[in-house]
Amino acid sequence: MPYSRAWHISAIPASFAMVLLQAHFLILLAAVVFARGFSIPQADHQHRDTADKTVLILGGGVAGVIAARTLHERGIKDFIIIEGRNELGGRLRSTSFGGKTVELGANWVQGTQTDGGPANPILTLVKKHKVQTQFNDYFGSLTTYDKTGPVDFLDVFNASVDAFTELTVAAGPRVSKSLVDLTSRGGYTLTGVRPRDAHAKAAEYFNFDWEYAQKPDQSSWVASSWNNNFTYDVDQGGFSEDNLLAIDQRGFKAFIQEEAKEFLDPSQIMLNAIVKTVSWSGVGVTVVLEDGRSISGDYALCTFSLGVLQNDDVVFKPSLPDWKQEAIASMTMGTYTKIFLQFPENFWFDTEMGLYADPERGRYPVWQSLDHESFLPGSGIIFATVTGDYSERIEALSDTQVKAEVLGVLYSMFPNVTVPDPLDFMFPRWFSDPLYRGSYSNWPPSFFREHHDNLRANLGRLFFAGEATSQKYFGFLHGAYFEGLNVGQELVKCIKGKGCVGLKHSKEVKNTSPYGI
Ligand SMILES: Cc1cc2nc3c(=O)[nH]c(=O)nc-3n(C[C@H](O)[C@H](O)[C@H](O)COP(=O)(O)OP(=O)(O)OC[C@H]3O[C@@H](n4cnc5c(N)ncnc54)[C@H](O)[C@@H]3O)c2cc1C
Ligand SMILES: *[C@@H]1O[C@H](CO)[C@@H](O)[C@H](O)[C@H]1NC(C)=O
Ligand SMILES: *[C@@H]1O[C@H](CO)[C@@H](O)[C@H](O)[C@H]1NC(C)=O
Ligand SMILES: *[C@@H]1O[C@H](CO)[C@@H](O)[C@H](O)[C@H]1NC(C)=O
Repeated sequence: MPYSRAWHISAIPASFAMVLLQAHFLILLAAVVFARGFSIPQADHQHRDTADKTVLILGGGVAGVIAARTLHERGIKDFIIIEGRNELGGRLRSTSFGGKTVELGANWVQGTQTDGGPANPILTLVKKHKVQTQFNDYFGSLTTYDKTGPVDFLDVFNASVDAFTELTVAAGPRVSKSLVDLTSRGGYTLTGVRPRDAHAKAAEYFNFDWEYAQKPDQSSWVASSWNNNFTYDVDQGGFSEDNLLAIDQRGFKAFIQEEAKEFLDPSQIMLNAIVKTVSWSGVGVTVVLEDGRSISGDYALCTFSLGVLQNDDVVFKPSLPDWKQEAIASMTMGTYTKIFLQFPENFWFDTEMGLYADPERGRYPVWQSLDHESFLPGSGIIFATVTGDYSERIEALSDTQVKAEVLGVLYSMFPNVTVPDPLDFMFPRWFSDPLYRGSYSNWPPSFFREHHDNLRANLGRLFFAGEATSQKYFGFLHGAYFEGLNVGQELVKCIKGKGCVGLKHSKEVKNTSPYGI
């Protein structure tokens, strides 16, 4: 555990009254900035004498660590990462289960590299830090089931893979002809895809929900197509079609923790530090932690998840302007839940994946075998995935109830096998976790490009970055990486220049053709 002790800031002014005065001053100044319509005052370098740090980086996930590295590389060392958990990595989160390290959060490098084309930066870090991964053939190594047991519906599955590609192609003209966005469900219907039975619905789930953590009905047709294209479609600037599953027993997080170790000094990290309030303005940002400590910075970068921003876990002072609140409220936080079981031995399939078509769409559909020669042979571990509303549903149940449901599904899938009691059972509750409030963001059809600009835009000296602020790669590790890099560069410009313009925003997102009756 490289960073396992809590860090105390020695530079915090002892006088509480001073801190209060300072916060008061900031709020007053913020009001002035508001009145001036957010033009950012010229860099107020006098303020630096009173702030504890030049930059406060709120959150130590991929975006926070990469922003920190960007500052470091440009000679800005006076920053601190403030992280609520006891380690860096954020949604790269592993745990010990059944004697093995398994991933509760991110697990794949999604899109790798094709010939000399652009490399996924996560792949680059994975190679650099020798994180063990394996190609996961999730379209080609699959066994299919329904409530009667094993049933081969790979023809239906393959048709659904093609239907998804067709969906992303048919979204092209929506963009080139400036047509309004629709839901991906609308897109499927218009391209002639209407899944009616359990097999077709499970196949569609695998190709859509299992990636976006929400239903086609809840997702933007254009944005989900872009999101796929920019990562997986080489013709559209994507990396490759391949997915590498991390099986490193240090955890997938090793790539970011090892990278952090190369440049971070322990004094630049504060762990087990939960931020409760963020007071922001055009001249600086002050945060107050759960334990009452207060830290100020000339600038702050908030990398908390969209789910955290949507809840009142962190209070902003003054409250965020309408355009920011509208953007935060309008993007969606999806949930992706892996349910792990360990058995005395593998009684299931020899393929990497299993797909189960329940009469109810989204009910324990996708199964991944870790007890496979490519992954963790002999481990006896298999896991199921549920997403979206179904994840929220099971988070409200007890572990015992969920275990009984999942075993019921295995009894249906393997009617001729006496399924033994699992040795171990576990699933994480991302949606209920106040440090995440879900797994990753998904772009709904009522979310416009201006909304996305507003989600990314800074408020005076308070900046934002994370997977959700990535227009091309929302939901992915590489989205968080590129956003951390970009905002790090913006911060460098601000700090080294004389004041900064920051990122653009729209005060109001208008209808191009207003409603009327
Ligand atoms: C189940 C799951 C599966 C996924 N699978 C993949 C995958 O296979 N491939 C892929 O590319 N991506 C995947 N993702 C998405 C990927 O994990 C994220 O896009 C990425 O990790 C987000 O990084 P971030 O820096 O934006 O946010 P985070 O990692 O969330 O970093 C923010 C940090 O802020 C901290 N924090 C939050 N609130 C506070 C507070 N009040 N005070 C102090 N600290 C706080 C959090 O602890 C966290 O460490 C998955 C995510 C999940 C959850
Ligand atoms: C489905 O596609 C895979 C390739 O991804 C192929 O190997 C398999 O034969 C196809 N099966 C059917 C039934 O079409
Ligand atoms: C996605 O990629 C396909 C194939 O390259 C392309 O035809 C389509 O226009 C792209 N979709 C969008 C929304 O850009
Ligand atoms: C299960 O057993 C029954 C009765 O012996 C048999 O008809 C059926 O084919 C078996 N199913 C599988 C999947 O082996």
